[in-house]
Amino acid sequence: MPLTTSTVLICAGGACISSGEASVKEALKKEIRKYGLDEVVRVVETGCMGACSLGPIIVIYPDGVFYQKLTPRAAEKIVQEHLLKGRIVQEYLYKMPTGEVVPEAMDKLPFFAKQVKIATRNVGYIDPSNIEEYIARDGYFALNKVLTQMSPEQVIEEIKRSGLRGRGGAGFPTGLKWELTRKAKGDRKYIVCNADEGDPGAFMDRSILEGDPHTVLEAMVIAGYAIGAHQGYIYVRAEYPLAIERLQIAIAQAKEFGFLGENILGSEFGFDIEIRIGAGAFVCGEETALIASIEGKRGQPRVKPPYPAQSGVWGCPTVINNVETFACVPPIIIKGADWFRSIGTPTSPGTKVFALAGKITNTGLVEVPMGITIKELLYEIGGGSSTGKKIKAVQTGGPSGGCIPSEYFDTPVDYESLQKLGAIMGSGGMIVMDEDDCMVDVARFFLEFTVDESCGKCTPCREGTRQMLKILEKITSGEGSEKDLIELETLGNIIKDTSLCGLGQTAPNPVLSTLRYYRHEYEAHVREKRCPALRCKALVRYVIDPSKCVGCTACARVCPVNAISGELRKVHTIDNDVCVRCGSCIEVCRFGAISKVSP
Ligand SMILES: Cc1cc2nc3c(=O)[nH]c(=O)nc-3n(C[C@H](O)[C@H](O)[C@H](O)COP(=O)(O)O)c2cc1C
Ligand code: SF4
Ligand code: SF4
Ligand code: FES
Repeated sequence: MPLTTSTVLICAGGACISSGEASVKEALKKEIRKYGLDEVVRVVETGCMGACSLGPIIVIYPDGVFYQKLTPRAAEKIVQEHLLKGRIVQEYLYKMPTGEVVPEAMDKLPFFAKQVKIATRNVGYIDPSNIEEYIARDGYFALNKVLTQMSPEQVIEEIKRSGLRGRGGAGFPTGLKWELTRKAKGDRKYIVCNADEGDPGAFMDRSILEGDPHTVLEAMVIAGYAIGAHQGYIYVRAEYPLAIERLQIAIAQAKEFGFLGENILGSEFGFDIEIRIGAGAFVCGEETALIASIEGKRGQPRVKPPYPAQSGVWGCPTVINNVETFACVPPIIIKGADWFRSIGTPTSPGTKVFALAGKITNTGLVEVPMGITIKELLYEIGGGSSTGKKIKAVQTGGPSGGCIPSEYFDTPVDYESLQKLGAIMGSGGMIVMDEDDCMVDVARFFLEFTVDESCGKCTPCREGTRQMLKILEKITSGEGSEKDLIELETLGNIIKDTSLCGLGQTAPNPVLSTLRYYRHEYEAHVREKRCPALRCKALVRYVIDPSKCVGCTACARVCPVNAISGELRKVHTIDNDVCVRCGSCIEVCRFGAISKVSP
């Protein structure tokens, strides 16, 4: 007979689902049934636990033992050993890059130990489809407190005192936004949750919606009470079907439990929430474009003012907040503004959720106190470079952000410090680059994205970004000149100053920040026609070292365009006029004879 009751949390976030969560869950359940443990072991599917590169993941409570990279066979073994006999299965515990097994409890792992979870406090811990699990972790307590003990003004005052700033990018004070909307004239007011999340590689908001949808609903009702609104909209992109499904379930449950609808919790106050599905245009995340899209119009930004606080959905005063901003509201109401201010920095209180991506060992989702240094974030939590090469820069703020070089990694992560470096906090995307990344090419990549996503309404953004992209393409193909660098800077600053909306106003950031910190790389491209990172194909040649080549013919056989010639056991050569720089030959040569050079 088993001695203890256990709960097995299995991550059902997007990354773990694609790495085989369903088959691990099936094997787990089958084995649990086989040994008659169904009565004492509960299997709960949760949202993303954050360590997405380690999936499929399970955590077994009460001890919080963290198992990673599981297969159905591993799941069977864990049931037989851990759940049946109480013996930890060492081979599936987390291992350091050195191979050392670290303490088995999840909260002791370096990836989790430095995190402070506020917005994602329930993500990865509860079944998001079960409202009772949310309630069991203080869910809807804040709403109850607000409706029974606080006036709308007191709610706004508490949020103002907390210093909470919008997590959608701009960092506008949330309490002030609510106050302005409350004071704005109008009988009808609205609450909108911005869940458009269009930055490439970002998935903070998706994880909250998939892993803890009720927290967003609760916060929206609280915001509605605070400003006098009775209707809310969640604008979520169609590419997030799981988030939409879990939101729909959550809304139905909240209605059933009396947290949505008329007379919420027996009060006079009523509030309803509808989901609006966006088609996935990046610009629709901009608040005025999003509002137009909710109204059924084309999702294009308009001039501000008037701001949504004065004239939002259907011309009515509207609070629009980001998913993560809303997710911070219930804990602030329960624990108080002073508690929230005790975390983070005086000007950026609280935490921020980041999606770590690129050349970093621990990719995934992390929530950290503001003020943590970039170095701590990348090395102590992120585990450093995943390639063995030195980390060269980190791009924050997605396509509107900037690149921060490693010399500045002691900088604290807060709104002002990042802005001073020419980057921005943005919504939380963090892409790590190593010495193999060419900063000119990185700038080109991000600009390509904004050119595609520009709505075309205003000329500086529509035409200017296109011109900048053409110049960057010229430079990366070895046809650039010194004049182009000046042109890029001049154009970039004009676009920033004259574009209508935030997309155009920030689109030049990746170019301007790389010009600021990596001018030498641009100069190498235009002066010497050289790509120091050996990335820009037009500036790179593939060569075979005759002293290393043994003439095995492997490279010639793998080359898709027959650019390599040579006889068996004779030194081979590459015709660079034919070579398409695919890199297949480098991968296949066991003698390290092939390398890339830039003149
Ligand atoms: C091009 C563009 C895209 C944006 N995308 C998003 C987004 O996906 N999610 C978001 O919350 N805010 C986005 N924003 C910011 C919103 O306009 C707005 O500032 C935000 O939703 C306000 O919420 P907050 O105060 O809680 O941050 C975007 C802004 C621009 C200019
Ligand atoms: S700045 Fe760009 S995205 Fe914004 S309105 Fe102008 S063209 Fe459209
Ligand atoms: S794979 Fe390497 S060793 Fe073999 S022929 Fe090509 S360059 Fe020479
Ligand atoms: S999806 Fe499982 S840890 Fe992120």
